Amino acid sequence: MSRPAILVARYVLPELLDRLSQHFEVESNQADQLLSPSELIARLQGKRGAFITANEKIDATLLDACPDLRSVCTMAVGYNNIDVAACTARGIAVSNTPDVLTESTADFGFALMMAAARRVTESERFLRAGQWTHWTYGLMNGVDVHGATLGIFGMGRIGQAIARRGALGFGMKVIYHNRSRLSPDIEAPLGARWVDKDTLLREADHLVLVVPYSPAVHHAIGAAELAQMKPTATLTNIARGGVVDDAALVEALRAQRIAAAALDVFEGEPKLHPGLLDLPNTVLTPHIASATGATRKAMADLAAENLIAILTGGTPPTVLNPEVLQR
Ligand code: DGY
Repeated sequence: MSRPAILVARYVLPELLDRLSQHFEVESNQADQLLSPSELIARLQGKRGAFITANEKIDATLLDACPDLRSVCTMAVGYNNIDVAACTARGIAVSNTPDVLTESTADFGFALMMAAARRVTESERFLRAGQWTHWTYGLMNGVDVHGATLGIFGMGRIGQAIARRGALGFGMKVIYHNRSRLSPDIEAPLGARWVDKDTLLREADHLVLVVPYSPAVHHAIGAAELAQMKPTATLTNIARGGVVDDAALVEALRAQRIAAAALDVFEGEPKLHPGLLDLPNTVLTPHIASATGATRKAMADLAAENLIAILTGGTPPTVLNPEVLQR
C-alpha cells in the first residue's frame, strides 16, 4: 500500500523529517520561505496531512481546493489561523501543541513585563547611544514589579504559569479575568482573585494578555480600556495581534496614559504600526515567546506525533476535534 503524502510547510529539524519519512511520503519546505495561499494550495495537492505553523492560514477556500487533506497539525498552541469548524465539517482532524510551551512562554511573558516596568531595553538603547554621561536621581526610574498587582487577561495554562511566577517569585497580588472562574484549588495557592474586566483594567499595575484570539476578543484592549488603566501601569501582550488595538495603544503611550507596553505580537505582523517603533516606552519582540531550542523541538515533536497518529489510526495526544476521528 502506498504511504500517505504530507506537506511540512516550514523548516523542521532533519531528524524530525526522518521520523516523518518512516510513515509518509514527505514534501518539505526546508528553505522555509513563507508560502502564499496559492502556493500552499498547490503544494497540498494530493497530500493527506499538513504540518504547519501559526503562519499558514487554513480556511474553507484552501480546504475546498485540497480535497485529499485529512489532518492539519500545527506546531503552535494558538490556532486562530485554522478554521476548525470548516475542517470538522470536511472530516479533517486538527491538532495543536498545548502544554509543551507553557513554561517557556510564561518565562518570556514575565521577562517582557519586567523589561517594560524597569525600562530595560530603553536603558540599553540609551547607553548604546552614548547618552549616559552621569548619574541622576531620576535616570530611567521605572515601576516596581515585586509586591505589585499582576493582572492577567486569559487565565489558561500560560496565564496560570505567569501568575505562579508573580505570586510565588515576586510576592505579587494576582487578579485575573477569564470567561469562567477557576476552581478554588487553582486560585488559592496563588492567592488569585477573579475580577470583572473593568476591575482588572483599573487595579492592575502590570496587565498581561494571554487570552486566545477569537473575534470575540478583537480589540478587547482599545482606547476605552487603556483609558481605565493606571498611568503607571504596563501592558504586555503575548496573546495575538488584534487583541490590542495597536493604533489606540500608540496614542495612549504617546499621551503617557499608561507607562509602557511590551509586545511580542502585533496586528498585521510582521508589519508593525510605525508609531510603536518611534516610542521609547515600548519593548518590541518578533513573536518569540515560545522560542527556546528545547521548546521548539517539543512543539515540532508533538505536532509530528499528532500527524502520525491521525493518519495511521492511532490516538493523537492533542487533537482539537476528536469527533472527526470517531466517524
Ligand atoms: C503559539 O504557539 O501559538 C505561539 O504564538 C507560536 O506561534
